[in-house]
Amino acid sequence: MAKLFASVVSQFAHPRGPLGWFVGHLMAWKNGARSRWALDLLSPRPGERILEVGFGPGVDVRRLLERVGESGFVAGVDVSVEMVRQARARNRAAIAAGRARLERGSPERLPFDDGAFDAIYSTNSAQFWPDLTAAMTELRRVLSPSGRAVVVVQPMWRGATEADTAAWEAKLLGAMRAAGFSHVESVRKDMPPAPAVAAIARCT
Ligand SMILES: C[S@@+](CC[C@H](N)C(=O)[O-])C[C@H]1O[C@@H](n2cnc3c(N)ncnc32)[C@H](O)[C@@H]1O
Repeated sequence: MAKLFASVVSQFAHPRGPLGWFVGHLMAWKNGARSRWALDLLSPRPGERILEVGFGPGVDVRRLLERVGESGFVAGVDVSVEMVRQARARNRAAIAAGRARLERGSPERLPFDDGAFDAIYSTNSAQFWPDLTAAMTELRRVLSPSGRAVVVVQPMWRGATEADTAAWEAKLLGAMRAAGFSHVESVRKDMPPAPAVAAIARCT
């Protein structure tokens, strides 16, 4: 039983196979409250170009597309083949119309030009990035000089506490500063099992 539980938990880091299919659908159904809060912090505007890192089943890609409207564009990278498949299926029409591009990838090496995005968004994926500072440095590269990034982490594991949130807050802000973002701040929101933290960075 403990083994099954551990293998379900590891699926949130990298959904694969039939269990990954199930976890993707679970995330699509479950993470709405945190996402709506994070999206309000990002505050996407019509016509903007936005990058999401670790989009999972692609529900927030759809929400971002609604907010940027017909003249906007949403790109995304996720390391999981299964999540790329689900997210592409969920956003098929926007991809066909050239309003979205979803690729397999990781934030330390992004297939986008310097300054390509007005804003960058990520929820509960940064915990799994192999090198947080390298990722933030690359996010800064693809962000326009007037751009903003919102990276959210909510500790979800059994027994998670506010201390875990505080530890992630320090890691995210530290990596953003090390990457050269000049304005960095954080906001928290109480939600079970432990508060979520949004680290917000601006280039200028
Ligand atoms: C817990 S899920 C969160 C999904 C979605 N953002 C949400 O809030 O519902 C974590 C996601 O991050 C992705 N991920 C993990 N490591 C990654 C990496 N190095 N680069 C990009 N995505 C990654 C996983 O494949 C998974 O889709």
